[in-house]
Amino acid sequence: MLIEAEGLTKTYKIGRDKFVALDNATFNIDEGEFVAIQGTSGAGKSTLLHILGCLDTADSGSYHLGGVDVFKLNDRETARLRNEKIGFVLQDFSLINHKKVDFNVMLPLYFNKTPRREMRERVENVLDAVGIGSQVGKRANQLSGGQRQRVAIARALVNDPSVIFADEPTGALDSKTSKEVMKLFRRLNEKGIAIVIVTHDNAIADCCDRKIVIEDGKIVLDSGRKTEK
Ligand SMILES: Nc1ncnc2c1ncn2[C@@H]1O[C@H](COP(=O)(O)OP(=O)(O)O)[C@@H](O)[C@H]1O
Ligand SMILES: [Mg+2]
Repeated sequence: MLIEAEGLTKTYKIGRDKFVALDNATFNIDEGEFVAIQGTSGAGKSTLLHILGCLDTADSGSYHLGGVDVFKLNDRETARLRNEKIGFVLQDFSLINHKKVDFNVMLPLYFNKTPRREMRERVENVLDAVGIGSQVGKRANQLSGGQRQRVAIARALVNDPSVIFADEPTGALDSKTSKEVMKLFRRLNEKGIAIVIVTHDNAIADCCDRKIVIEDGKIVLDSGRKTEK
């Protein structure tokens, strides 16, 4: 099992008040699945994704990623797990805009001391995989929204992750470009990478094999994996 989430609960303190953003979420995700986490704005999707992506912890519950008990890790171990297993894609791309495409994609490799030559090779491969090999010499701010998201996806891929977590990855794109990005996620999934996409958009969720619907921090529906594949 790739992801085992059991009773995940997250409360935010706002002054003296407490707000339960995630309420007892329990579910599993298998290796190689393609899952949408769907819900309206404020439902708790990003809160959940940040926990799954090891960027934040829950107040209670447990989370295993690839058999590792994530909440038992110290900061260094968590950072390492994130670097080895997880790719992250965000709505606003989060690229360094004045830097070139290859620099942006290479960034995660600096953290695990990959040799230079291997860096080059890997960057070339992932840029080809997302279909923008020809844009490598441009700066991020010279690209269209769709191209920028492809660069961000290439960066998420460069460490060969088991899973990509994407938070509203098509939220800043028009509907045609969104479809292309979803096709790209599908192709990556066919290569065996699990994809977990947070979205408020039903059309985007429909592109995935399984929908987990969240409302007011609670999981209210889990369609399970589509059997035809
Ligand atoms: N750091 C925070 N402090 C206080 N409240 C927060 C914080 N982050 C999120 N929230 C609240 O938790 C709820 C869920 O937020 P979020 O997970 O971002 O929802 P979604 O991604 O589904 O729009 C929202 O009501 C939001 O206002
Ligand atoms: Mg959000």
